[in-house]
Amino acid sequence: MSAEIERAAALLRAGELVAFPTETVYGLGADASNPVAVAKIFAAKGRPQDHPLIVHLPGVEHLERWAREIPEKAYALARAFWPGPLTMILKRLPHVPDAITGGQDTIGLRVPNHPLALELLRAFDGGIAAPSANRFGHVSPTTARHVRDELGDAVAMILDGGPCQVGIESTIVDLTGERTTILRPGMVSAHDLGKVLGRVPAVVGAAGAAGATDMPRVSGSLAAHYAPRTPLALLQPDVVIFAVREALAANERIGIIAPMPCPLSDERIVWREIPGDAAGFAHDIYALLRELDSLGLSRIVVQKPPLNENWRAVNDRLQRAEAGAGGA
Ligand code: TXA
Ligand code: MG
Repeated sequence: MSAEIERAAALLRAGELVAFPTETVYGLGADASNPVAVAKIFAAKGRPQDHPLIVHLPGVEHLERWAREIPEKAYALARAFWPGPLTMILKRLPHVPDAITGGQDTIGLRVPNHPLALELLRAFDGGIAAPSANRFGHVSPTTARHVRDELGDAVAMILDGGPCQVGIESTIVDLTGERTTILRPGMVSAHDLGKVLGRVPAVVGAAGAAGATDMPRVSGSLAAHYAPRTPLALLQPDVVIFAVREALAANERIGIIAPMPCPLSDERIVWREIPGDAAGFAHDIYALLRELDSLGLSRIVVQKPPLNENWRAVNDRLQRAEAGAGGA
């Protein structure tokens, strides 16, 4: 084990915050069994107390330490997707601190797929509570630099594992009810889950989905989440260029994220080309939003991706960013 991991595990044991990379986004970690340490997460993020946290585990063998009445399908999903970008909501054991669950009878659990995260979890040998390592309502961090820029001195240590592979937050699947449902879409899709479950689960927490606003327990389900500060618009491909011309006519600086090179040359246009496939788009989008958001532009335009199942998680995050941009 490296000295760095040893130091990080010791800080967690001492009740301090350690930010660490996962394959999705960077997490702001604390000892999940220590309510005083967990309270520091809420303080550092400025996050409402009743929003529950995901507990990260070193392996599926830790599941029984946190959850009860675990259904067989949870083990099947763990075999298929862990370590990986899938969070399961299960019934919690009584010892789990209320600070983790927002006082609910359920808990979110996940084994992340990142070598540093797994090393840290094994060294710590327990559950690490970790929301995304950003201030409440802001864009999730996908590099150590993002975490430092946003949380700085509020964390005892930031482990740098390079840019996150997946780039958007894990899929959250609720296994506590009769029907299995998806509370937050992610890169493990409903279709992927359906192959293991034998039935494709309904997505109930997504942006724009029925009932989304009735689900404050998943903070990602608040309409205005994942938001940059600059006004943001999602526009169809054929409208993007009109928005650019409009901005130039008003002598404004505009940021564009689109899957093709910039067709015009003008220094008031900050154009960022993004991959045209969902995985590549997810990988880059938060870093690009963060970069453009820091430039004091009048507006950010993102070219709307296709509206199909492959793009569901990306579209979910983009819709929330659009709803929350400029104010939230
Ligand atoms: O990819 C991810 O999931 C990242 C990395 C760090 O693992 N974490 C993350 O955490 O996105 P956070 O706190 O930003 O979002 C976790 C979501 C929140 O919307 C929270 O409300 C929901 O999970 N959640 C956690 N426990 C829950 C529970 N028991 N019931 C319903 N929702 C829960
Ligand atoms: Mg978050």
